[in-house]
Amino acid sequence: MTKIEPFSERIYVTRPVFPTIEEVTEKLRDIWAAKWITNNGPQHTMLERELEKFLKVPCLSLFNNGTIALMVACQSLRLSGDVITTPFTFAATPHVLSWNNITPIFCDVDDETMNIDANKIESMITPSTTAILAVHVFGTPCDVEKIQEVANRYGLKVIYDAAHAFGVEIDGQGIGNFGDCSMFSFHATKLYHTVEGGALVQKSKIVKDRIDLLKNFGIKNEEEVVMPGINGKLDEIRAAIGRIMLGYVEGERLKRINLHKIYNEEFAEVEGIRVMPTCAENIKLNYQYYVVRIDEKIFGRSRDYVYDELKNYNVYARKYFHPLCSEFTCYRQLNSANPNNLPVANVIGQQVLSLPMYGDLTEDDVRKICAIIKSFGR
Ligand SMILES: Cc1ncc(COP(=O)(O)O)c(C=O)c1O
Repeated sequence: MTKIEPFSERIYVTRPVFPTIEEVTEKLRDIWAAKWITNNGPQHTMLERELEKFLKVPCLSLFNNGTIALMVACQSLRLSGDVITTPFTFAATPHVLSWNNITPIFCDVDDETMNIDANKIESMITPSTTAILAVHVFGTPCDVEKIQEVANRYGLKVIYDAAHAFGVEIDGQGIGNFGDCSMFSFHATKLYHTVEGGALVQKSKIVKDRIDLLKNFGIKNEEEVVMPGINGKLDEIRAAIGRIMLGYVEGERLKRINLHKIYNEEFAEVEGIRVMPTCAENIKLNYQYYVVRIDEKIFGRSRDYVYDELKNYNVYARKYFHPLCSEFTCYRQLNSANPNNLPVANVIGQQVLSLPMYGDLTEDDVRKICAIIKSFGR
């Protein structure tokens, strides 16, 4: 077999999409002319309306990042006590619960979608449970029907962490229409971004007014501060960049669909490498990430071996999401964090690897990454 040469430059797991400098300069001129740089300016207002249209959702509030948005979601729904969530997510998901003085209760995940296992939620509900905080991990939708059915039966709120799910749709409906509230992250590493940023989406104008107060210190007017709010505001510069980036989403998504196909083709015959789940035809995915699961017993090499060895070829994959949130020192003492309660999540946490995925990656780059990984197998 011919030796595979390392990439000449580092290949990271993702690379932010950049607008042209000319487009940004033009928008900056508008902001300078308006002399309005933050606090609900014209760019902010226009972006809220444009995103509502793009995401097919009724009410959207912009935020300076997804984490603060999720913090405010908990406040706006007045959650307390315990909230059932997934251990297979980014640290921000359980952390926002802790910051709201709420205990995260970890529920195991589904082996196929890697999302919270909707069939296991009911057994975790106690009189202290006030809500379910589910994550559409890697953009694959949760079982929204089953989750809502359980929530309705027990009078629980449902929040979706849709940080990965920008533009995902079920039956032509924006993913943000499910549950009581959804959070999107517009961090630079996401398919759509505002450099840093985020949004909360829900159905009612009255709730939007409350969310908008909460993200601006609770200030109603010059004379009244009506609740203990926080600073969650998105400034005009990032809102303007967000308006430009809306024009890039579909092009980037199409490039990633093509790269997904190549990865899937290359791994189709490889025993021990499991590719991302395929979704039903009524689901529109965003193809933001490409994640595989490596079964050491079948592939012959562990996920950690592949991750380490790839670096010798200048490929920097990421172990999303390892460690599980239930393994963090701040959560592992919880009863629900016991690995016996989370058998599926614990296996997935040892197997997952996020491979490079961004529009500027070439088809040849993807084929070479796959050839390198295949060369590790025994
Ligand atoms: C699942 C998930 N939830 C929440 C967040 C936090 O979003 P932000 O970085 O915009 O605060 C992220 C990542 O960035 C994420 O991946």
